[in-house]
Amino acid sequence: MNIILLGPPGAGKGTQAKILVAERGMVQLSTGDMLREVRASGSELGQRFGEMMDRGDLIPDGMMIEMIDARLDEPDCKNGAIFDGFPRTNAQAIALDEMLQRKSLPLKAVIELTVDEESLVGRITGRYSCAKCGAGYHEQFQRPAVPGVCDTCGHQDFKRRPDDNEATVRDRLEVYRRDTAPIIPHYEAQGLVQRVDGMAEITEVEGAVAAILDA
Ligand code: AP5
Repeated sequence: MNIILLGPPGAGKGTQAKILVAERGMVQLSTGDMLREVRASGSELGQRFGEMMDRGDLIPDGMMIEMIDARLDEPDCKNGAIFDGFPRTNAQAIALDEMLQRKSLPLKAVIELTVDEESLVGRITGRYSCAKCGAGYHEQFQRPAVPGVCDTCGHQDFKRRPDDNEATVRDRLEVYRRDTAPIIPHYEAQGLVQRVDGMAEITEVEGAVAAILDA
């Protein structure tokens, strides 16, 4: 089963994708994570990606499409993929349709997490993750059980994303409104869009997403 999680920065796409990975053995295809890996490699391309991400700009479509096309050919994607952060433009949406058809991978649903934009700034600026395993936390909404210790791996160092500051978040929200929200009608025309209240508690969002997947 393949699904797209759609929503502005901080809507909870990554949070819900990680729950689905843990509970259903699906694969999370987060283009943001893929780009951060290239960035961490220190390559020239990674540096260019980093500069664009820190400004909140999108990476060119051709590169993103190639990245996802190649990743989908890896064997783990046969069990179902969660697209998290892709597609983000009309060109990416059209390319993904073609790719999924070519690879015989049907799309079950496009789940739009609807949120109140103002609360997103607080969500994103309060976000941090384990420096070792990447498990995600939030200062207010998702604290580790033992303060300062990762629930998943026990590590005690945490990190924040360089693009998680208020100015960049506002730019990323603007880019979402301009380039990504307009792809929703593309999927509405295919009868695939399902809306979930992304302002609900994380476990309630999880339940609503599960109900869509099990329908
Ligand atoms: P990316 O990494 O995809 O970032 P994003 O889309 O801006 O999304 P986020 O990861 O910020 O938010 P999320 O929805 O996953 O929220 P999360 O679950 O963490 O992209 C980064 C950059 O890479 C882009 O700006 C662009 O430059 C580039 N890029 C990536 N893909 C691209 C593409 N396809 N094309 C071109 N460029 C691309 O939740 C946020 C916080 O809120 C967490 O702390 C969490 O604990 C908390 N939280 C989650 N759900 C709830 C809830 N229900 N209630 C309370 N708190 C909650």
